[in-house]
Amino acid sequence: MPHPRNLLALLLVFAFAPGGARAAEKLGYNRDIRLLLSDRCYKCHGPDQKTRKGELSLNDPADVLRPRKDGAVLVPGKPDESVLIDRIFTTDEDDRMPPPDSGLSLTAAEKETLRRWVSEGGEFEPHWAFIAPKKASLPEVSDKAWVRHSVDHFILARLDKEGLKPSPEAERRTLIRRVTYDLTGLPPTREEIAAFLADRSPDAYGKVVDRLLASPRYGERMAVDWLDVARYADTNGYQYDLPRTMWRWRDWVIEAFNRNLTYDRFATEQLAGDLLPEATLEQKIATGFNRNHPFTIEGGVIDEEYRVQYVSDRVMTMGFAFLGLTFDCSKCHDHKFDPISQKDYYSMFSFFNNVPENGFNGGKPVVAEPAIAAPTAEQSVRLEAIGAELAEVEGELKAAETGAEAAQREWENSLRGSGKQAAMVWETL
Ligand code: HEC
Ligand code: HEC
Repeated sequence: MPHPRNLLALLLVFAFAPGGARAAEKLGYNRDIRLLLSDRCYKCHGPDQKTRKGELSLNDPADVLRPRKDGAVLVPGKPDESVLIDRIFTTDEDDRMPPPDSGLSLTAAEKETLRRWVSEGGEFEPHWAFIAPKKASLPEVSDKAWVRHSVDHFILARLDKEGLKPSPEAERRTLIRRVTYDLTGLPPTREEIAAFLADRSPDAYGKVVDRLLASPRYGERMAVDWLDVARYADTNGYQYDLPRTMWRWRDWVIEAFNRNLTYDRFATEQLAGDLLPEATLEQKIATGFNRNHPFTIEGGVIDEEYRVQYVSDRVMTMGFAFLGLTFDCSKCHDHKFDPISQKDYYSMFSFFNNVPENGFNGGKPVVAEPAIAAPTAEQSVRLEAIGAELAEVEGELKAAETGAEAAQREWENSLRGSGKQAAMVWETL
């Protein structure tokens, strides 16, 4: 039984550790500090230059660490020499941060958190979205033989921690059902199940996986999530939501998965395939990614308003599809801890602001201009055949026309001076 005073000290340590029981773990700027500064200080010391007070931007490490005549705002490892810590703990109301009349305040625990952060080195971190993921080292596990893939290390390590054992491998019928759904979105056929049950070779499961990966259904399954991210639709989105022709782009995505297109090509061709040297039709089709946004066919709209709306949609989608970032808050204002400024937003906007299009697309619901003919390979062959056939028919027609003229002249000549002409006229009358 600890002495009551020790118990109290223990409780305080836990109370001051954000999140409760992390007393021993070093504080993380992104996890423990940024939100606190943003919530209580950025109103006057944040990214917004218009509201900045005391020439201090707490969001900017370079500004926090720069030498100042009244003493350093933050001395890493030395809270007692850091003006920041002094200003939050001081009992002098004229100096206290945040200023009492701002209506903002820090609790004792929050002040302690900031002090501890400074004594632990006062390190800043970039926005978490910009920290490149690091490969974690594989954790120790109780049964190395069970592990087949590096991911299994993490699963088993966690099971070990919980005192659990892995479930036995699923029976074959379940296995083939699961993997077929996972890779194609469809159930296995009876024949496929029977073949797998009958295949007793050690790589039977691997063979099933290879067969599924080679199936065209694989690309269809894999494309589903990307189509959602890219806001794919077969209709225009506004008013009566009339149909649009976009399936050629959809099929490009499916094909990209089926031919295992690398991610950099996948990204490049969708964003700007038309700008690649000697762009192929397929690469141009890939840029349909940028045209998946809703189109209006409403005659009464303000053209420019909707055109800008389409450009914004491209910027937003590019942001969350390729950068994993909410990109559109900065459309209207700089933000307390949004790493994208309004200037960044409109710099990016400019790249997408060059499509020769209208906000109101002339009431053409199926394909909005600018558009290209995008026949499939099959259709191209057929088109060529039809073209040849057409040329032939046109030749015949032309021949018939020239022939007709000559025949008519000959007929007219045969009538000339024969007296029949007058009779004909009478008949016609
Ligand atoms: C409502 C506005 C407001 C808020 C909120 C605010 N401050 Fe201040 N802060 C000021 C003003 C005004 C000054 C400059 C005048 C002064 O030094 O008192 C200042 C000055 C400072 C300074 C001194 C800068 C220097 O160059 O010496 C520090 C450090 C500071 N603030 C830290 C903080 C911290 C930390 C928070 C949040 C916990 C915070 N402030 C919240 C208004 C604010
Ligand atoms: C269409 C324009 C627009 C977009 C987009 C927008 N905002 Fe705002 N935001 C505003 C306006 C205007 C205000 C000021 C409102 C007021 O003063 O009443 C504001 C105010 C705020 C405030 C309050 C700021 C303060 O200091 O009181 C926050 C926080 C905020 N927005 C966050 C966001 C976030 C997060 C997003 C993205 C999810 C976002 N905004 C997207 C226009 C926008």
